[in-house]
Amino acid sequence: MSAQGKPFHILRSGQFDRKFLDHICLLTDHIRRLDKSKDGLLYLNRLCQGKRAMLYFTQPSTRTFLSFQSACQILGLATSEIRDSSTSSERKGESIEDSLRTFSSYVDLIIMRTPIPGFCDKVAQMLDETHRPVPIINGGSGPDEHPTQAVLDIYTLSRSFRNFGGIDGKTIMMVGDLKRGRTIRSLSYLLRYYKNVKIIFSSPDEFKIDQDLRDKLLKSQISFEETRAFEEPLAQADAVYMTRVQDEYDVKGESKSVDYHKYHLKYEHLKLMKPNSVIMHPLPRRDELDVRIDNDARAKYWRQERNGMWTRVALIATVLGADSNVILPEL
Ligand code: CP
Repeated sequence: MSAQGKPFHILRSGQFDRKFLDHICLLTDHIRRLDKSKDGLLYLNRLCQGKRAMLYFTQPSTRTFLSFQSACQILGLATSEIRDSSTSSERKGESIEDSLRTFSSYVDLIIMRTPIPGFCDKVAQMLDETHRPVPIINGGSGPDEHPTQAVLDIYTLSRSFRNFGGIDGKTIMMVGDLKRGRTIRSLSYLLRYYKNVKIIFSSPDEFKIDQDLRDKLLKSQISFEETRAFEEPLAQADAVYMTRVQDEYDVKGESKSVDYHKYHLKYEHLKLMKPNSVIMHPLPRRDELDVRIDNDARAKYWRQERNGMWTRVALIATVLGADSNVILPEL
């Protein structure tokens, strides 16, 4: 963090505090208002003009890649990208570290997704020791962390509960492959900043949260429970956060032996849920979230996805020091 409490890198959700989250949520609201007029759009487009960003995504992504790319375009940043390391000089034996140091020679910001847990931290540390450190934003690091997803999830929750007392006092149910779902880990860390929040982790035994997350939640004294049940907690939940099986991390196809069907949210389940509750999913989805739910007023995942672009505009502007220029003009 800088002296102003703003991060140089965005690596893990644990580095954010409540003040930072409130800053990003407010900034995102301002940016969305600016987007509604031509003058506002031009204003946003000049905020980072002349700067360049590199998108280095060596693990598949649709939303995170495109929302970051769109966020850069909104702020006037030029972008370059590598999405397949076999097209870079890594193919000739260059180390990933040397590749990233090379990108840092050409750009002002590196946004990266990697299958390697902890690798974004390693790169940030390496660049900090060079003469030209540039900020790193973690767009997902293996089963480990997805901090910008956690920020967009907090924004979505806080805006969904805007007229219902905010996130304070809410019961958030997280469902599915909680062991390898990086969005679960990153979001759970942040919920400790809200008063009287309870988390219900609903999963098969094989996909229970990892001990490191359990220890952190115990230490932060947030109320949580772990259960195999699915239908009973649905009725208690103010937010239901669905996730898919993360079988890309299987070693020997072990996900196939887990009965996941019980953890599918079906249209018939809607009648069990509170009328003002919200349904979220980081997407992509498979069968765990019935497409017939999409038109229910409680389904917020498409809005959540779009919020990803706006919160990422706010995060990039903050990292590049352009956030103090986002003032609300008379529109
Ligand atoms: N939520 C998310 O990270 O989606 P992508 O994998 O499509 O980027």
